[in-house]
Amino acid sequence: MDDVVHQEKILILDFGSQYTQLIARRVREIGVYCEIFPCNAPTSKIREFNPKGIILSGSPFSVHQRTAPKIPKGVLDAGLPILGICYGMQIITKTLGGTVELSKTREYGHAMLKIDDKSDLFRGLADSEQVWMSHGDRIVKIPNGFTSIAHTDNSPVAAMKNGKGVFTLQFHPEVVHTPNGKTILQNFVKDICGCACNWSMRSFLVYEVERIKEIVGKDKVLLGISGGVDSTVAAAIIHKAIGDQLTCLFIDNGLLRKDEAKKVLKTFKEELHIKVKFKDASDVFLKPLSKVTDPEKKRKIIGRQFINVFREEAKKIGKNVNFLAQGTLYPDVIESVSFRGPSAVIKSHHNVGGLPKVMRMKLLEPFRELFKDEVRTLGLEMKISETLIHRQPFPGPGLAIRIIGAVTKERLEILRNADEIVVDEIKKAGLYREIWQSFAVLLPVKSVGVMGDERTYDNAIAVRAVNSKDAMTADWVRLPGDLLAKISNRIINEVNGVNRVVYDISSKPPGTIEWE
Ligand code: XMP
Repeated sequence: MDDVVHQEKILILDFGSQYTQLIARRVREIGVYCEIFPCNAPTSKIREFNPKGIILSGSPFSVHQRTAPKIPKGVLDAGLPILGICYGMQIITKTLGGTVELSKTREYGHAMLKIDDKSDLFRGLADSEQVWMSHGDRIVKIPNGFTSIAHTDNSPVAAMKNGKGVFTLQFHPEVVHTPNGKTILQNFVKDICGCACNWSMRSFLVYEVERIKEIVGKDKVLLGISGGVDSTVAAAIIHKAIGDQLTCLFIDNGLLRKDEAKKVLKTFKEELHIKVKFKDASDVFLKPLSKVTDPEKKRKIIGRQFINVFREEAKKIGKNVNFLAQGTLYPDVIESVSFRGPSAVIKSHHNVGGLPKVMRMKLLEPFRELFKDEVRTLGLEMKISETLIHRQPFPGPGLAIRIIGAVTKERLEILRNADEIVVDEIKKAGLYREIWQSFAVLLPVKSVGVMGDERTYDNAIAVRAVNSKDAMTADWVRLPGDLLAKISNRIINEVNGVNRVVYDISSKPPGTIEWE
């Protein structure tokens, strides 16, 4: 197979910075394929990857700490262009004989970069550029052979180079607070490393369709769909590659939003022209949930029932289905090998995680190399509608973790009606796409109200709207008062069983996005 998309690649060595994935996304946006390896990756693996250049990330470590990670052997003398960012700069300095000083005050925030050399890394920039600093240590003596190429008021050496392809930056070019950071990264990957920009979702589509054809051959593939972006785009690309050798299975767990099952089936039929095997398994999920109040128990029950139903339905499809397709994304892959190790599991988000083991099938993961925004672009490339591509995330355990306490059909009905109003009003206000998640939560807390002349004693609905980049942290959205008023009025007037609406003004941390 002609693999142009991976021909010229950049390697990012991760020293544990919170921004490492952002560097990778920026490089991909420029059109160059890159991967992230942990900074303790074996030299042989780095060599085998055969990058055209290497970027060293930042780190929560100081180079003065005893356990501070080192640059893998052979990287600095591989003859490849290198860009050290923040900690990457300091560890290069220390390794090559310069001096890094432990600074008493941390330089954090905006700074004005004064550029002293615009011949390569800073080509096309102004004499003075806004940049984002976040460092404790600073360079006081640069290593032999290096020259400073930019400074700020606080950092006499904010960037340097050695004339042999090694460049360093004290600031973060990957974050939005460095408005022209992308130009710097582009100068590095295109001009200095000489990468052609072959990576785009258009070229990935051609490549991946061929790859799927080759891997699957005449076998059959089973894919569980949820109506979410990842499984929908996965269905589309696999179907494009192998047509009806793909079977899509959609299980209604009874915890979906209003008319969701109907809408998903309609989209697959009318928009994507992909056949779906549908199983309404609501009772299988709702019965064991009826008396359960503990959130983790709810998740476990839903996860277990999902696997049971999936297995049963898969059996009915026949024996010759050898592949199980999954929408695994690149961040999940890196998480499992990350230098910092997988982040602490605060909630067990592994509702379908056990599926591959139980199914004993070969895995087909078309998006193992992609970030979520790339999957979205790929979906648009395949002409999947924007409404679908820009759907907000919805958790696997569905409405079960948005009903505090036991999940019953009556409570589900109330929540569905309230949730639909929240989403509808947010869409009408033109805010749906810019909000990460917006939804209703049912609080089975009875409070007193008056409706007309009557006293009511009913449930409360909490409205939640958060902004986030990756769901790890989130901030509550300052929704306009008029919009909140409209949502509240409509819910109280239109949804039986609700007489009070509250707005959740907690951020994550310390709150979480979902209430359970
Ligand atoms: P929290 O509530 O932990 O949520 O701040 C972070 C993101 O994950 C989603 N979420 C889940 N997704 N299974 C899922 O597939 C789960 O059990 C689950 N719990 C939370 C949540 O909607 C948010 O996007």
